[in-house]
Amino acid sequence: MADWIRVGGVEECPPGQLLGAVAQGTKVVVANVDGDFYALRDRCSHADFPLHDGELDGSELTCIHHGAKFDACTGQARGFPAIRPVETFEVEARDDGIYVQVG
Ligand code: FES
Repeated sequence: MADWIRVGGVEECPPGQLLGAVAQGTKVVVANVDGDFYALRDRCSHADFPLHDGELDGSELTCIHHGAKFDACTGQARGFPAIRPVETFEVEARDDGIYVQVG
């Protein structure tokens, strides 16, 4: 059974922002899409650079390294040079922070 890991406070990831964290050794990026949280593996499927320093516009996450675009809600690739999806994780906003299920 995968564990729920707290990755930060809700206030650390306001709408339109990304939050990078490590949960049990797994690098994750949390995206706040208009108040809803989504979590993905923090590794671009193009060349493995981190996604947390990218840009979020609505649900579109752009990797700043070579411009690949992803759907932050589903992890699907939306724009070249990425053609493969990024893994997603379950995420919950609780009273005491943002939790991601990894493992
Ligand atoms: S590593 Fe993300 S676009 Fe190349």
